[in-house]
Amino acid sequence: MTVTTQRGASPEAIQQHYDVANDFYELWLDPTMCYSCALWQADEPDSMLEQAQLRKIDFHAQQIQATSGQRVLDVGCGWGSLVRRLVETHGAGHATGLTLSKAQAEWSAQRHNPQVEIRLESWLDHVPTASYDGIISVGAFEHFAKAEWPDAERIAAYRTFFKSCREWLKPGGRLSLQTIAYGNVDVANVKDQPDTKFFFDEIFPESVLPTLSDIIAASDGLFEVINLRNDREQYYRTCQIWYRRLVARKSEALKIVDLEVYNRFVRYLKLSAFVFDAGYTGLLRFGFRRLDEPRTA
Ligand SMILES: C[S@@+](CC[C@H](N)C(=O)[O-])C[C@H]1O[C@@H](n2cnc3c(N)ncnc32)[C@H](O)[C@@H]1O
Repeated sequence: MTVTTQRGASPEAIQQHYDVANDFYELWLDPTMCYSCALWQADEPDSMLEQAQLRKIDFHAQQIQATSGQRVLDVGCGWGSLVRRLVETHGAGHATGLTLSKAQAEWSAQRHNPQVEIRLESWLDHVPTASYDGIISVGAFEHFAKAEWPDAERIAAYRTFFKSCREWLKPGGRLSLQTIAYGNVDVANVKDQPDTKFFFDEIFPESVLPTLSDIIAASDGLFEVINLRNDREQYYRTCQIWYRRLVARKSEALKIVDLEVYNRFVRYLKLSAFVFDAGYTGLLRFGFRRLDEPRTA
């Protein structure tokens, strides 16, 4: 299977979404600024979003078997809560986070920790100074390929990601990957539907969802799957809560962004909740272990 150096979403496309305004996101995300599916416990009230996000971070830390002194990488680190928690709570010796969002990097810079390095850099340009004990990537994989690429190109781009992670990890190292994926839909036809176009033209430009089989094909022979869960109902809940929080703070939001941006985000969060609830999209959480003797090139 081929790999490629083709790039998914450009820095400009990423910044169009993530650099809207940090204080806008602060209105409806929780204080950790996690912008991905939380990990809920049964019967937990919606008011516990922050705890559910911290639990999600701890889940990924467990997936890579984080222990003290380790070197870890977060590909697509957002506002940096995961890298900071790996160092501050899980005892990692050094954590590197990669983002293409200037606003996120600036926000993290204000919460400086000498053991944390946030780099405004694509993983495609990343050159580690030493190998990593573990790698985590949460909610970034959706940006690693573009909707207009044929299937083979998309899978080749994903394979480049897995190949890079494999090269950067120590023998036996773990990769914890969380991504949205297409679920029970006819992928070939759904791409032309208005709601899909809204997502990838107006919300997440230059991006596309993988399918479960894309990820399996792209990682085959490089990593073995240790575990896999589909937590789509947890993303339904997370999106619903974000939606309610944003709507409840409309007047504050309109002091930061215009009505068009506000309405766009409201539509996107409502639609996201719907597609997770319907099973059109899934929320995949993979635990991978590096194959130290890769089967394929
Ligand atoms: C939905 S956010 C998730 C952020 C964070 N992981 C979280 O869970 O809150 C997606 C992140 O992926 C990053 N990203 C997208 N493409 C990237 C790339 N090629 N290299 C590095 N980061 C990338 C974005 O800059 C953003 O920080």
